[in-house]
Amino acid sequence: MDLSYRMRLLIVLISIGVLAGGGLVVKRLLIPDSFGVYGPYRADAIVEAALVPIRHGTNASCFKCHPYEANIHKNGRHHTISCEFCHGTYADHVKNGKKTGTLPVKKGKEITTLCLRCHNTEIKARKEKVIKTVAMPDHLKDQNVKITHNCNQCHHVHAPLKYIIRAKQITGLMEAGS
Ligand code: HEC
Ligand code: HEC
Ligand code: HEC
Ligand code: HEC
Repeated sequence: MDLSYRMRLLIVLISIGVLAGGGLVVKRLLIPDSFGVYGPYRADAIVEAALVPIRHGTNASCFKCHPYEANIHKNGRHHTISCEFCHGTYADHVKNGKKTGTLPVKKGKEITTLCLRCHNTEIKARKEKVIKTVAMPDHLKDQNVKITHNCNQCHHVHAPLKYIIRAKQITGLMEAGS
């Protein structure tokens, strides 16, 4: 073993030491203070998430100011659907108990597009049983109307079977159990 070999070994060992030490320093600098308090994540993230303002209300948050729509919605087949899915978020509409902004209200063709986001037979990702679907334009052809008809011309948007049940009652065409 000559000196130059020892020297080289020393240089390698010192380099490893410097790298490892430097690595530990950098790690300390980069890891946030609250990391690991509860588990392998930043404990402060919990507090931060809790402070994010809530943007959505529940359906109940709409009911007191919209008793007319609420009453129809609660009694229809859409009673489980969130008002905000179709209208946008509470926070864009109400602040401190007062109306502060306008929510979008879909019209005409937009309504058909909205309905078909849940009711189109083309949606293959879920089982038909979960939500009843219709094939377009067959559903309209079956009713003997022009295929330019929008869904809300026959279905009440807030209780989609409202008029249909009423029509069946009038004509006496109620099926057993409906
Ligand atoms: C399936 C989607 C859908 C759901 C769920 C829904 N709405 Fe609507 N809503 C609509 C559409 C579409 C219109 C426009 C109806 C039209 O023009 O025929 C509308 C109209 C309205 C209007 C009248 C707006 C205007 O100025 O004409 C109000 C108010 C309203 N909805 C409130 C609610 C509330 C409150 C809820 C929950 C209880 C709710 N909606 C649930 C789709 C929905
Ligand atoms: C503090 C009372 C209040 C609450 C809570 C409230 N609204 Fe409204 N909203 C109003 C008023 C006032 C209007 C305008 C007059 C009207 O159409 O009845 C309105 C109008 C609307 C409209 C028509 C478009 C517009 O913005 O003018 C829609 C759609 C609507 N609200 C949906 C909702 C939904 C969905 C919720 C629950 C997430 C909700 N509202 C909660 C007071 C309220
Ligand atoms: C967010 C998804 C969603 C949207 C958007 C939606 N629906 Fe529904 N709809 C449902 C669910 C869930 C039911 C209850 C389960 C069922 O009956 O299939 C339902 C029920 C219905 C029914 C009753 C089916 C039956 O025989 O019981 C009709 C009709 C209907 N919706 C039409 C519409 C129309 C028209 C629109 C557009 C204004 C619309 N839906 C928008 C989810 C949705
Ligand atoms: C011309 C009137 C008319 C129009 C427009 C219309 N429907 Fe219907 N729809 C009906 C009638 C009537 C029924 C009930 C059929 C029955 O009981 O056999 C029905 C039933 C349904 C059902 C329940 C199907 C089932 O398997 O029980 C859904 C979902 C539905 N419609 C969604 C829609 C959607 C989405 C649109 C718009 C793309 C739409 N409808 C447009 C008249 C209409």
